Amino acid sequence: MLQLFLRSLIASFLVSSFGISAFAQEEPLSALPDGPGKELVEAACVACHETDIIYSSTGYTNNEWRHLFSRMIDLPEELASDIAHYLATSFPKRFDRLPTLASGDFNITFQEWGVPTLGQRPRDPLMRPDGMIFWAGMYGNIVGQLDPSTGEMKEWQLEPGAMPHSIIDDAEGNIWYTGNGNGTMGKLNPETDEITIYQMPDPAARDPHTPIVTDNGDVWFTVQNSNFIGRIVPDTGDIRLEKIPTENARPYGIDIDSRGMIWVAYRGAPKIARIDPDSWQIEEFNTPNPDPESHHGRYYIRRLAIDSQDMIWYVDSGRGYVGSFNPETEEFNEWLTPSGAGSHPYAIEVVDDIVWINESEQRPDVIARFDPQTEQFQSWPIPSGVGVIRNMRATHDGNLVIHQSSANTVGLVKIGEKSDWLAGPYRP
Ligand code: HEC
Repeated sequence: MLQLFLRSLIASFLVSSFGISAFAQEEPLSALPDGPGKELVEAACVACHETDIIYSSTGYTNNEWRHLFSRMIDLPEELASDIAHYLATSFPKRFDRLPTLASGDFNITFQEWGVPTLGQRPRDPLMRPDGMIFWAGMYGNIVGQLDPSTGEMKEWQLEPGAMPHSIIDDAEGNIWYTGNGNGTMGKLNPETDEITIYQMPDPAARDPHTPIVTDNGDVWFTVQNSNFIGRIVPDTGDIRLEKIPTENARPYGIDIDSRGMIWVAYRGAPKIARIDPDSWQIEEFNTPNPDPESHHGRYYIRRLAIDSQDMIWYVDSGRGYVGSFNPETEEFNEWLTPSGAGSHPYAIEVVDDIVWINESEQRPDVIARFDPQTEQFQSWPIPSGVGVIRNMRATHDGNLVIHQSSANTVGLVKIGEKSDWLAGPYRP
Protein backbone atom coordinates (compact mmCIF):
# COMPACT_ATOMS: atom_id res chain seq x y z
CA MET A 1 0.00 0.00 0.00
CA LEU A 2 2.67 2.44 1.11
CA GLN A 3 4.82 1.48 -1.85
CA LEU A 4 1.96 2.03 -4.28
CA PHE A 5 1.22 5.39 -2.78
CA LEU A 6 4.85 6.45 -2.97
CA ARG A 7 5.18 5.17 -6.49
CA SER A 8 2.32 7.27 -7.73
CA LEU A 9 3.45 10.27 -5.71
CA ILE A 10 6.97 10.15 -7.09
CA ALA A 11 5.81 9.15 -10.56
CA SER A 12 3.56 12.17 -10.88
CA PHE A 13 6.35 14.33 -9.52
CA LEU A 14 8.79 12.99 -12.11
CA VAL A 15 6.39 13.34 -15.00
CA SER A 16 5.50 16.90 -14.11
CA SER A 17 9.02 18.11 -13.47
CA PHE A 18 10.97 15.93 -15.85
CA GLY A 19 8.59 15.10 -18.67
CA ILE A 20 9.54 11.44 -18.67
CA SER A 21 7.20 8.54 -18.40
CA ALA A 22 8.27 7.20 -15.05
CA PHE A 23 8.58 3.53 -14.20
CA ALA A 24 8.96 2.21 -17.69
CA GLN A 25 11.01 -0.54 -16.07
CA GLU A 26 8.37 -1.89 -13.71
CA GLU A 27 10.43 -4.25 -11.60
CA PRO A 28 14.07 -3.81 -10.68
CA LEU A 29 16.27 -6.71 -11.82
CA SER A 30 18.18 -7.31 -8.59
CA ALA A 31 16.28 -7.54 -5.36
CA LEU A 32 17.63 -4.95 -2.98
CA PRO A 33 18.69 -6.07 0.51
CA ASP A 34 15.92 -5.77 3.11
CA GLY A 35 15.90 -2.81 5.44
CA PRO A 36 13.87 0.26 6.23
CA GLY A 37 13.87 2.45 3.13
CA LYS A 38 14.11 -0.35 0.56
CA GLU A 39 10.60 0.35 -0.74
CA LEU A 40 11.40 4.02 -1.08
CA VAL A 41 14.42 3.24 -3.24
CA GLU A 42 12.38 0.83 -5.35
CA ALA A 43 9.86 3.61 -5.87
CA ALA A 44 12.14 6.59 -6.37
CA CYS A 45 15.18 5.20 -8.15
CA VAL A 46 13.98 3.08 -11.06
CA ALA A 47 12.48 5.67 -13.38
CA CYS A 48 15.70 6.20 -15.32
CA HIS A 49 17.74 3.06 -14.60
CA GLU A 50 17.50 -0.29 -12.84
CA THR A 51 18.52 -0.77 -9.22
CA ASP A 52 21.46 -2.80 -10.58
CA ILE A 53 23.29 0.48 -10.95
CA ILE A 54 23.19 0.75 -7.16
CA TYR A 55 24.77 -2.69 -6.81
CA SER A 56 27.52 -1.95 -9.27
CA SER A 57 28.31 1.43 -7.72
CA THR A 58 31.20 1.84 -5.26
CA GLY A 59 28.82 2.62 -2.43
CA TYR A 60 28.97 5.88 -0.58
CA THR A 61 28.72 7.55 2.80
CA ASN A 62 25.35 8.96 3.81
CA ASN A 63 26.30 12.47 2.71
CA GLU A 64 27.79 11.29 -0.55
CA TRP A 65 24.69 9.24 -1.39
CA ARG A 66 22.54 12.26 -0.74
CA HIS A 67 24.67 14.52 -2.82
CA LEU A 68 24.77 11.98 -5.68
CA PHE A 69 21.04 11.30 -5.96
CA SER A 70 20.21 14.97 -5.43
CA ARG A 71 21.73 15.42 -8.92
CA MET A 72 19.14 12.93 -10.25
CA ILE A 73 15.92 13.57 -8.34
CA ASP A 74 14.63 16.28 -6.03
CA LEU A 75 12.96 14.47 -3.12
CA PRO A 76 11.18 15.87 -0.07
CA GLU A 77 13.59 16.12 2.88
CA GLU A 78 12.18 13.22 4.87
CA LEU A 79 12.23 10.81 1.93
CA ALA A 80 15.73 11.84 0.92
CA SER A 81 17.00 11.35 4.43
CA ASP A 82 15.42 7.87 4.77
CA ILE A 83 16.73 6.80 1.36
CA ALA A 84 20.26 8.03 2.13
CA HIS A 85 20.20 6.17 5.42
CA TYR A 86 19.10 2.94 3.76
CA LEU A 87 21.69 3.25 0.97
CA ALA A 88 24.59 4.12 3.29
CA THR A 89 23.68 1.13 5.49
CA SER A 90 23.16 -1.36 2.64
CA PHE A 91 25.77 0.02 0.23
CA PRO A 92 28.51 1.58 2.35
CA LYS A 93 31.49 3.21 0.74
CA ARG A 94 33.96 0.79 -0.86
CA PHE A 95 37.36 1.54 -2.28
CA ASP A 96 37.63 -1.09 -4.97
CA ARG A 97 37.34 1.21 -7.97
CA LEU A 98 39.91 3.82 -6.96
CA PRO A 99 42.14 4.83 -9.85
CA THR A 100 45.88 4.40 -10.07
CA LEU A 101 47.13 7.83 -11.00
CA ALA A 102 50.15 8.42 -13.19
CA SER A 103 52.31 11.27 -12.04
CA GLY A 104 53.80 13.88 -14.33
CA ASP A 105 54.59 17.55 -14.52
CA PHE A 106 51.76 18.95 -16.64
CA ASN A 107 49.00 21.07 -15.22
CA ILE A 108 45.29 21.12 -15.99
CA THR A 109 42.39 22.87 -14.27
CA PHE A 110 38.76 21.79 -14.09
CA GLN A 111 35.65 23.91 -14.10
CA GLU A 112 32.33 22.06 -13.81
CA TRP A 113 28.68 23.11 -13.90
CA GLY A 114 25.64 21.16 -12.68
CA VAL A 115 23.08 21.25 -15.50
CA PRO A 116 19.53 22.44 -14.68
CA THR A 117 17.33 19.38 -15.34
CA LEU A 118 18.17 16.62 -12.87
CA GLY A 119 19.09 13.09 -13.98
CA GLN A 120 19.13 14.04 -17.67
CA ARG A 121 22.33 12.10 -18.50
CA PRO A 122 24.24 15.05 -19.93
CA ARG A 123 26.79 13.86 -22.46
CA ASP A 124 28.91 14.55 -25.53
CA PRO A 125 29.48 18.28 -24.95
CA LEU A 126 31.21 20.50 -27.47
CA MET A 127 32.29 24.12 -27.63
CA ARG A 128 31.19 26.14 -30.63
CA PRO A 129 33.80 28.52 -32.08
CA ASP A 130 31.92 31.41 -30.39
CA GLY A 131 32.74 29.85 -27.01
CA MET A 132 29.24 28.49 -26.22
CA ILE A 133 29.18 24.96 -24.81
CA PHE A 134 26.35 22.62 -25.87
CA TRP A 135 25.45 19.15 -24.60
CA ALA A 136 22.92 16.36 -25.20
CA GLY A 137 20.66 15.53 -22.22
CA MET A 138 19.75 12.05 -23.35
CA TYR A 139 17.25 10.95 -20.69
CA GLY A 140 15.58 14.36 -20.62
CA ASN A 141 15.23 14.80 -24.42
CA ILE A 142 17.28 17.94 -24.08
CA VAL A 143 19.89 19.94 -25.91
CA GLY A 144 21.49 22.37 -23.48
CA GLN A 145 23.66 25.43 -23.83
CA LEU A 146 26.13 26.90 -21.35
CA ASP A 147 27.93 30.20 -21.54
CA PRO A 148 31.10 29.35 -19.60
CA SER A 149 31.96 33.00 -19.11
CA THR A 150 28.76 33.66 -17.11
CA GLY A 151 27.55 30.17 -16.14
CA GLU A 152 24.20 30.97 -17.77
CA MET A 153 22.41 27.91 -19.16
CA LYS A 154 19.47 27.24 -21.46
CA GLU A 155 17.77 23.96 -22.29
CA TRP A 156 15.69 23.10 -25.36
CA GLN A 157 13.08 20.37 -25.03
CA LEU A 158 13.16 18.04 -28.05
CA GLU A 159 10.26 15.87 -29.16
CA PRO A 160 9.39 13.08 -26.70
CA GLY A 161 11.29 9.85 -27.36
CA ALA A 162 14.19 11.46 -29.23
CA MET A 163 16.75 10.47 -26.56
CA PRO A 164 19.58 12.47 -28.15
CA HIS A 165 22.73 10.40 -27.88
CA SER A 166 25.15 12.98 -29.19
CA ILE A 167 25.46 16.34 -30.93
CA ILE A 168 27.69 18.13 -33.43
CA ASP A 169 27.77 21.77 -34.55
CA ASP A 170 27.90 22.86 -38.21
CA ALA A 171 29.46 25.93 -39.82
CA GLU A 172 26.24 27.96 -39.35
CA GLY A 173 26.20 27.20 -35.62
CA ASN A 174 23.31 24.72 -35.80
CA ILE A 175 23.39 21.82 -33.38
CA TRP A 176 22.68 18.44 -34.98
CA TYR A 177 21.55 15.67 -32.65
CA THR A 178 21.10 11.94 -33.13
CA GLY A 179 17.58 10.81 -32.15
CA ASN A 180 18.75 7.53 -30.67
CA GLY A 181 15.33 6.70 -29.26
CA ASN A 182 13.15 7.33 -32.31
CA GLY A 183 15.32 6.80 -35.40
CA THR A 184 15.74 10.45 -36.34
CA MET A 185 18.33 13.12 -36.91
CA GLY A 186 17.48 16.58 -35.68
CA LYS A 187 18.79 20.06 -36.30
CA LEU A 188 18.41 22.77 -33.69
CA ASN A 189 19.02 26.39 -34.58
CA PRO A 190 19.82 27.81 -31.12
CA GLU A 191 19.38 31.38 -32.37
CA THR A 192 15.80 30.92 -33.63
CA ASP A 193 14.83 27.87 -31.47
CA GLU A 194 13.77 26.13 -34.68
CA ILE A 195 14.07 22.34 -34.68
CA THR A 196 13.98 20.31 -37.92
CA ILE A 197 13.51 16.55 -37.69
CA TYR A 198 14.58 14.02 -40.33
CA GLN A 199 13.28 10.43 -40.25
CA MET A 200 15.57 7.54 -41.15
CA PRO A 201 14.54 6.33 -44.63
CA ASP A 202 14.88 2.71 -43.47
CA PRO A 203 13.03 1.82 -40.23
CA ALA A 204 15.72 -0.83 -39.59
CA ALA A 205 18.07 2.06 -38.74
CA ARG A 206 16.64 2.55 -35.28
CA ASP A 207 19.37 4.15 -33.23
CA PRO A 208 21.46 6.97 -34.73
CA HIS A 209 24.43 7.30 -32.41
CA THR A 210 27.36 9.72 -32.97
CA PRO A 211 27.49 12.44 -35.67
CA ILE A 212 30.31 14.36 -37.35
CA VAL A 213 30.24 17.18 -39.93
CA THR A 214 32.45 17.18 -43.04
CA ASP A 215 33.97 20.28 -44.64
CA ASN A 216 31.16 20.44 -47.22
CA GLY A 217 28.53 20.41 -44.46
CA ASP A 218 27.32 16.82 -44.76
CA VAL A 219 26.52 15.14 -41.45
CA TRP A 220 27.76 11.55 -41.13
CA PHE A 221 26.63 9.35 -38.27
CA THR A 222 26.96 5.86 -36.85
CA VAL A 223 23.84 3.78 -36.12
CA GLN A 224 25.09 1.48 -33.41
CA ASN A 225 22.84 -1.52 -32.77
CA SER A 226 21.27 -1.43 -36.23
CA ASN A 227 24.79 -1.59 -37.74
CA PHE A 228 24.65 1.23 -40.30
CA ILE A 229 26.70 4.20 -41.33
CA GLY A 230 24.61 7.15 -42.50
CA ARG A 231 24.90 10.55 -44.12
CA ILE A 232 22.46 13.42 -44.31
CA VAL A 233 22.84 16.20 -46.88
CA PRO A 234 21.48 19.28 -45.06
CA ASP A 235 20.32 21.19 -48.15
CA THR A 236 18.02 18.42 -49.36
CA GLY A 237 17.48 16.47 -46.13
CA ASP A 238 18.40 13.40 -48.13
CA ILE A 239 19.64 10.51 -45.97
CA ARG A 240 21.70 7.59 -47.27
CA LEU A 241 22.42 4.51 -45.17
CA GLU A 242 24.84 1.62 -45.74
CA LYS A 243 25.11 -1.61 -43.77
CA ILE A 244 28.44 -2.19 -42.02
CA PRO A 245 30.12 -5.31 -43.55
CA THR A 246 30.89 -6.98 -40.19
CA GLU A 247 27.82 -8.36 -38.44
CA ASN A 248 27.08 -6.85 -35.01
CA ALA A 249 29.99 -4.45 -35.43
CA ARG A 250 28.07 -1.82 -33.48
CA PRO A 251 29.65 1.23 -35.14
CA TYR A 252 30.25 3.76 -32.38
CA GLY A 253 32.76 6.64 -32.45
CA ILE A 254 33.42 8.54 -35.69
CA ASP A 255 35.99 11.07 -36.90
CA ILE A 256 37.40 12.56 -40.14
CA ASP A 257 41.04 12.68 -41.25
CA SER A 258 42.74 15.55 -43.09
CA ARG A 259 41.91 13.97 -46.47
CA GLY A 260 38.21 13.80 -45.66
CA MET A 261 38.11 10.03 -45.04
CA ILE A 262 35.60 8.94 -42.40
CA TRP A 263 36.90 6.64 -39.63
CA VAL A 264 34.62 4.54 -37.43
CA ALA A 265 35.28 2.52 -34.25
CA TYR A 266 33.46 -0.79 -33.73
CA ARG A 267 32.22 -1.32 -30.22
CA GLY A 268 31.13 -4.85 -31.07
CA ALA A 269 34.21 -6.10 -32.96
CA PRO A 270 38.01 -5.67 -32.68
CA LYS A 271 38.14 -3.43 -35.76
CA ILE A 272 38.23 0.09 -37.02
CA ALA A 273 36.96 1.09 -40.46
CA ARG A 274 37.70 3.72 -43.10
CA ILE A 275 34.91 4.96 -45.35
CA ASP A 276 35.49 6.88 -48.55
CA PRO A 277 32.77 9.57 -48.57
CA ASP A 278 32.67 9.64 -52.39
CA SER A 279 32.63 5.93 -53.28
CA TRP A 280 31.18 4.71 -49.95
CA GLN A 281 33.80 1.96 -50.01
CA ILE A 282 34.28 0.57 -46.49
CA GLU A 283 37.67 -0.89 -45.51
CA GLU A 284 38.06 -2.66 -42.18
CA PHE A 285 41.30 -3.06 -40.19
CA ASN A 286 41.70 -5.70 -37.47
CA THR A 287 43.13 -4.41 -34.22
CA PRO A 288 45.94 -6.62 -32.84
CA ASN A 289 44.07 -8.19 -29.91
CA PRO A 290 40.77 -9.78 -30.95
CA ASP A 291 40.54 -12.28 -28.06
CA PRO A 292 36.95 -12.08 -26.72
CA GLU A 293 38.03 -13.45 -23.30
CA SER A 294 40.15 -10.41 -22.55
CA HIS A 295 37.41 -8.07 -23.72
CA HIS A 296 35.26 -7.91 -20.61
CA GLY A 297 31.65 -7.85 -21.71
CA ARG A 298 32.75 -7.92 -25.37
CA TYR A 299 33.42 -4.21 -25.48
CA TYR A 300 35.94 -3.50 -28.19
CA ILE A 301 36.81 -0.16 -29.79
CA ARG A 302 34.53 2.55 -28.41
CA ARG A 303 35.90 5.69 -29.98
CA LEU A 304 38.76 7.09 -32.00
CA ALA A 305 40.43 10.43 -32.66
CA ILE A 306 42.92 11.58 -35.31
CA ASP A 307 46.12 13.62 -34.92
CA SER A 308 47.71 16.16 -37.28
CA GLN A 309 49.68 13.39 -39.07
CA ASP A 310 46.47 11.39 -39.66
CA MET A 311 47.50 8.78 -37.10
CA ILE A 312 44.33 7.08 -35.77
CA TRP A 313 44.14 6.88 -31.96
CA TYR A 314 41.57 4.61 -30.34
CA VAL A 315 40.50 3.11 -27.02
CA ASP A 316 40.25 -0.67 -26.75
CA SER A 317 37.76 -0.38 -23.91
CA GLY A 318 37.33 -4.01 -22.89
CA ARG A 319 41.09 -4.49 -22.44
CA GLY A 320 41.93 -1.09 -20.99
CA TYR A 321 44.34 -0.04 -23.75
CA VAL A 322 45.00 3.05 -25.85
CA GLY A 323 46.07 2.23 -29.39
CA SER A 324 47.39 3.87 -32.52
CA PHE A 325 47.05 2.87 -36.16
CA ASN A 326 49.18 4.25 -38.94
CA PRO A 327 47.13 4.01 -42.17
CA GLU A 328 50.29 4.37 -44.29
CA THR A 329 52.13 1.36 -42.82
CA GLU A 330 49.03 -0.37 -41.33
CA GLU A 331 51.05 -0.72 -38.12
CA PHE A 332 49.27 -0.87 -34.74
CA ASN A 333 50.71 0.00 -31.31
CA GLU A 334 48.99 -0.31 -27.93
CA TRP A 335 49.65 0.92 -24.38
CA LEU A 336 47.98 -0.21 -21.13
CA THR A 337 46.16 2.62 -19.30
CA PRO A 338 47.42 3.66 -15.83
CA SER A 339 44.54 1.96 -13.94
CA GLY A 340 45.00 -1.22 -15.94
CA ALA A 341 42.98 -3.80 -17.84
CA GLY A 342 39.66 -3.05 -16.12
CA SER A 343 39.79 0.75 -16.48
CA HIS A 344 37.42 0.88 -19.47
CA PRO A 345 38.82 3.87 -21.37
CA TYR A 346 35.79 5.36 -23.12
CA ALA A 347 36.22 8.86 -24.56
CA ILE A 348 39.29 9.88 -26.54
CA GLU A 349 40.42 13.16 -28.11
CA VAL A 350 43.63 14.54 -29.56
CA VAL A 351 44.62 18.10 -28.65
CA ASP A 352 47.82 19.48 -30.19
CA ASP A 353 48.93 15.89 -30.92
CA ILE A 354 48.55 14.86 -27.27
CA VAL A 355 46.04 12.06 -26.64
CA TRP A 356 43.44 12.43 -23.88
CA ILE A 357 41.28 9.58 -22.59
CA ASN A 358 39.20 8.81 -19.50
CA GLU A 359 39.10 5.71 -17.31
CA SER A 360 35.36 5.30 -16.98
CA GLU A 361 35.34 2.30 -14.66
CA GLN A 362 37.23 4.12 -11.91
CA ARG A 363 35.56 6.17 -9.21
CA PRO A 364 36.31 8.94 -9.41
CA ASP A 365 36.38 8.85 -13.21
CA VAL A 366 39.85 9.83 -14.37
CA ILE A 367 41.16 11.91 -17.24
CA ALA A 368 44.56 10.85 -18.59
CA ARG A 369 47.06 12.52 -20.87
CA PHE A 370 49.21 10.35 -23.14
CA ASP A 371 52.21 11.79 -24.91
CA PRO A 372 52.98 9.77 -28.08
CA GLN A 373 56.58 11.09 -28.10
CA THR A 374 57.54 9.94 -24.60
CA GLU A 375 54.87 7.19 -24.41
CA GLN A 376 54.09 8.44 -20.87
CA PHE A 377 50.71 8.89 -19.19
CA GLN A 378 49.73 11.47 -16.60
CA SER A 379 46.29 11.33 -14.97
CA TRP A 380 43.95 13.31 -12.74
CA PRO A 381 40.71 12.48 -10.89
CA ILE A 382 37.73 14.49 -12.17
CA PRO A 383 36.45 16.63 -9.26
CA SER A 384 32.71 15.78 -9.57
CA GLY A 385 33.97 12.30 -10.41
CA VAL A 386 30.81 10.19 -10.43
CA GLY A 387 29.73 8.97 -13.83
CA VAL A 388 31.35 8.44 -17.17
CA ILE A 389 32.77 10.75 -19.81
CA ARG A 390 31.11 9.20 -22.84
CA ASN A 391 32.56 11.61 -25.38
CA MET A 392 34.79 14.66 -25.12
CA ARG A 393 35.83 17.20 -27.70
CA ALA A 394 38.68 19.67 -28.14
CA THR A 395 37.83 23.35 -28.12
CA HIS A 396 39.10 25.74 -30.80
CA ASP A 397 41.56 27.16 -28.27
CA GLY A 398 43.16 23.87 -27.31
CA ASN A 399 41.17 22.80 -24.24
CA LEU A 400 38.66 20.00 -23.64
CA VAL A 401 34.97 19.87 -22.80
CA ILE A 402 33.93 16.93 -20.62
CA HIS A 403 30.92 15.78 -18.60
CA GLN A 404 29.91 13.37 -15.83
CA SER A 405 26.77 11.39 -16.57
CA SER A 406 25.85 10.55 -12.96
CA ALA A 407 26.92 13.80 -11.29
CA ASN A 408 24.88 15.61 -13.98
CA THR A 409 27.66 18.03 -14.90
CA VAL A 410 29.40 19.43 -17.95
CA GLY A 411 32.93 20.71 -17.56
CA LEU A 412 35.81 22.52 -19.14
CA VAL A 413 39.36 21.22 -18.77
CA LYS A 414 41.91 23.94 -19.33
CA ILE A 415 45.15 22.41 -20.49
CA GLY A 416 48.05 24.28 -18.99
CA GLU A 417 51.77 24.26 -19.37
CA LYS A 418 54.29 22.10 -17.56
CA SER A 419 54.12 22.70 -13.83
CA ASP A 420 55.65 21.48 -10.63
CA TRP A 421 52.32 19.91 -9.72
CA LEU A 422 52.89 16.31 -8.69
CA ALA A 423 50.30 13.55 -8.71
CA GLY A 424 50.43 10.72 -6.21
CA PRO A 425 48.31 7.84 -5.02
CA TYR A 426 44.72 9.07 -4.99
CA ARG A 427 43.36 9.67 -1.48
CA PRO A 428 39.66 10.39 -1.29
C1 HEC B 1 15.62 11.31 -13.52
C2 HEC B 1 16.49 10.19 -13.75
C3 HEC B 1 17.13 9.50 -12.56
C4 HEC B 1 16.55 9.11 -11.37
C5 HEC B 1 15.11 9.31 -10.91
C6 HEC B 1 17.59 8.48 -10.60
N1 HEC B 1 18.76 8.44 -11.32
FE1 HEC B 1 20.48 7.53 -10.79
N2 HEC B 1 21.34 8.05 -12.56
C7 HEC B 1 20.72 8.77 -13.54
C8 HEC B 1 21.65 8.93 -14.65
C9 HEC B 1 21.36 9.67 -15.94
C10 HEC B 1 22.82 8.27 -14.29
C11 HEC B 1 24.08 8.11 -15.16
C12 HEC B 1 23.89 6.84 -15.95
C13 HEC B 1 24.96 6.63 -16.99
O1 HEC B 1 26.03 7.18 -16.94
O2 HEC B 1 24.70 5.83 -17.87
C14 HEC B 1 22.59 7.71 -12.98
C15 HEC B 1 23.54 6.96 -12.29
C16 HEC B 1 23.34 6.42 -11.02
C17 HEC B 1 24.33 5.67 -10.28
C18 HEC B 1 25.72 5.29 -10.77
C19 HEC B 1 26.75 6.16 -10.12
C20 HEC B 1 28.11 5.97 -10.75
O3 HEC B 1 28.98 5.41 -10.11
O4 HEC B 1 28.28 6.41 -11.91
C21 HEC B 1 23.77 5.36 -9.06
C22 HEC B 1 24.42 4.57 -7.93
C23 HEC B 1 22.43 5.92 -9.05
N3 HEC B 1 22.20 6.55 -10.26
C24 HEC B 1 21.57 5.84 -7.98
C25 HEC B 1 20.29 6.40 -7.96
C26 HEC B 1 19.44 6.39 -6.79
C27 HEC B 1 19.81 5.79 -5.45
C28 HEC B 1 18.28 7.00 -7.16
C29 HEC B 1 17.05 7.26 -6.31
C30 HEC B 1 17.23 8.04 -5.12
C31 HEC B 1 18.40 7.39 -8.56
N4 HEC B 1 19.64 7.01 -8.99
C32 HEC B 1 17.41 8.01 -9.31
C33 HEC B 1 19.44 9.26 -13.55
C34 HEC B 1 18.51 9.06 -12.52
